[in-house]
This record gives sequence, C-alpha cells and structure tokens, in this order.
Amino acid sequence: MTDAAKPVTTHALVAMKAEGRRIVMLTCYDALFARLLDASGVDLLLVGDSVNQVLAGEDTTLSARLDQMIYHTKIVCRGAQRAMVICDLPFLTYQVSREEAIRNAGRAMAETGCHAVKLEGGVQMAPTVRALVEVGIPVMGHIGLTPQSVHALGGYRVQGRDQEAARRLKRDARALEAAGAFAIVLELVPAPPAAAITKSLTIPTIGIGAGPRCDGQVLVLHDMLGLNERFKAKFVKHYAKLADSVKDAVRAYSDDVRSGKYPDSSHSF
Ligand code: KIV
Repeated sequence: MTDAAKPVTTHALVAMKAEGRRIVMLTCYDALFARLLDASGVDLLLVGDSVNQVLAGEDTTLSARLDQMIYHTKIVCRGAQRAMVICDLPFLTYQVSREEAIRNAGRAMAETGCHAVKLEGGVQMAPTVRALVEVGIPVMGHIGLTPQSVHALGGYRVQGRDQEAARRLKRDARALEAAGAFAIVLELVPAPPAAAITKSLTIPTIGIGAGPRCDGQVLVLHDMLGLNERFKAKFVKHYAKLADSVKDAVRAYSDDVRSGKYPDSSHSF
C-alpha cells in the first residue's frame, strides 16, 4: 500500500511531522463531503462543534450536544476510508469530571467509529487528556482561541499576543503533549509563538489563523469553499465561490421551471 492509500493513524501523524510532511485537515459534517474530501487526499476530517454554527445557524458552539456530534460523526465515518475522523467533544461533556469525560468520549468512539476526539484547553485539561489516553482514547488538544470559552475570552480574538500570554500557551502545549495528546490545534495565535510552540513539540500542531509554521492546517470546509457568506476572517482563503455558484444554479433552475423549459422531453419517461 502506498502512503497515499494507507489509513492515517496517530503514529503516522507524528512521523509526518518528523519528516516535514505537512498535514491537511478540514471540518466535515456529512457522508457526502466525507467521500469527496477522502477521495481528494485530506488527512484529517474534524467533525467540529462548529457544525452548530455552520449547519445549524447558531451564533456559537456552546449549545452543541453530544447526540448531535455523534450523529454527524457517524455519517462522516460512513464516507471516509483513508482519512482519520476526529469527533469534537462539545461544551460540558468533558469539563465536569474525568469520569464524565471518559463516558462521553467513550460513547463518541463506540457509537460512531471515529478514531479520536478533540477537546479544548491546556494545562487545566491535561489530567483529563491523560485519563482518556489511559483508557485508549486518542486525544487532539485545542488551545489559543478556544471557541467554547468565547464569552470568557471576550470574543473571537487573537490569543498569545504578549510575552506572558505566549509563555502560557507554550506551557499549555507542553502539558498536553506530556499528557499524551497526539496533536494540538492552535487557533488564532500570532505566527511567531505558533512557530515556537511547533518547534518545541514532537507532536504536530495544526494551525487555524496561526501562521505558516504549524505542522498542518485546518479550515472550516464551508468557509474555504466560499459557501458561508456570513463568515469573513483574515485567515480564511477562499478556494472556490460556491455560494455564488449555488445561487446562479438555483436561479437558472427557477427560471427554467417558471418558463416551462425544464423538464422537457429529454427528462421525461
Ligand atoms: O469546531 C471546529 O470546527 C474547530 C476548528 C475550527 C478547529 O474546532
């Protein structure tokens, strides 16, 4: 089996970092897109709790529920063959106690077929990460802007701007690595501290708004495809303008239906 066909594992990710091969991650919420992303060679499919904003139209991720994440993760797993599928643990499913974290992360693993979970937080979440890893659940960390704490952080703002904050982020990253996390998302972190954190770890960092020196990159799929007209951020690059394509196609369809041009005899039985 070539590398491009082998299933992506946590060990493969650490090897990719060591070999300087960059890791490609996108969010994914359904089987149809999972098939497309998998066929395009994406390494990691994150079933992010951003589904609550992107598909369900909520303002934040806070109201995402475990059952919702389990549903979306299950259908993503149905569409993925090579890519590793990671289920985001929603707010309050892992913060209350380690026992609850194990039970909830265990449910996600057992009921969906995903390969790992992701949770937000650094030093304070390290004992929980260790507890999950000890029962065999691979964990991806997430530090910097942690959307589940958006109200405590005072909004969606860049983290780690001053020296002390950057030092705290580095401590967070090291604590997660020491606890057994296999990778860490760095969200909205200035490029220099993100590069320094990346250099100091043996596990890969996956950036989103964290500059060019992380070991990999993640974006919300609907943002990079230009489908989400409501969300504009400096760090997002649009690789397509699908919102315009959808509107053009739907207008053309509507015109044809209204004018009687569609369906014609070629679409009839
Ligand atoms: O929920 C999500 O989509 C995420 C990514 C932005 C990293 O956590």
